[in-house]
Amino acid sequence: MAATRFAAVLERARGLGRAVGAFTCYDLEGFEAVAGSAEAQGAPAIVLISPSSFAAPGGRRLARAFVAMATEASVDLLVQLDHVSDRDQIERAADAGLDAVMADGSKLDYEQNVEFTRTVAGSLRPRGVAVEAELGRVEGHEDRAGPVASGELTDPAQAREFAERTGVDCLAVAIGNVHGHYSGTPRLDFDRLEAITGTPPLSLHGASGLPEPALRRAVALGVAKVNVNTELRAAYFGALRANVDATEEGLDLKALGEATVAAVARVVDSKLAAFGWAPEELRRSA
Ligand code: 13P
Repeated sequence: MAATRFAAVLERARGLGRAVGAFTCYDLEGFEAVAGSAEAQGAPAIVLISPSSFAAPGGRRLARAFVAMATEASVDLLVQLDHVSDRDQIERAADAGLDAVMADGSKLDYEQNVEFTRTVAGSLRPRGVAVEAELGRVEGHEDRAGPVASGELTDPAQAREFAERTGVDCLAVAIGNVHGHYSGTPRLDFDRLEAITGTPPLSLHGASGLPEPALRRAVALGVAKVNVNTELRAAYFGALRANVDATEEGLDLKALGEATVAAVARVVDSKLAAFGWAPEELRRSA
């Protein structure tokens, strides 16, 4: 049996040849878009909280609200603190009842990353909190979009050793993927991905801007979790821009909020479809 609920959800998705979508949410509108889309498609999903949101005033309150709302969902909806390297924040995430943390030791050298990840996993997993780690470097900023070039790629032999020594539930790979906007045409190293695939389940960060066939191929090659943020933010801003004039006169914040939820949900729908969850006919019309 899987050690954590997070690991069980990823394993079940892998068993179906699908991947679990993980979507960064900054507010209740973002959460509603992800929860509504996942429920409509009968798909599990992960709500990601960026470390800057979590550390901001009200961040822990927001995290607790996400955890409480996730329990109401009709699908497996998990909450994960993304890309955190601060041990205090990791402990706070566990205390706030989050399902998982992404313990990011990718800026450390290899041995330090092993030690950091092993210690976090040893502390959190017995408490049912899953740990995802990163090997190689997924470059780019998690909250601000800009053109980004690929960083150091994951070494397949090192990935196996890293997984054995740390006992993580999930490993984020660097195969040409970046956070934010790809500078130039994205090129994923699928041979490398194939060589890494095995235990533990793999995650692909930086899905925004990757063409759908590339996402489908990554999932077919064994990626169990795919992270999306930038495209959700782009949809959110687009909806604000498109609807603010019509709603401003009546100061109709509710209508503005509904427009953003609908726009973000359309992106989540299309990503979940690419990860194997929704048949074409279930897609909402744009
Ligand atoms: P994008 O912003 O490029 O979609 O990446 C999201 C991500 O990987 C969050 O960890």
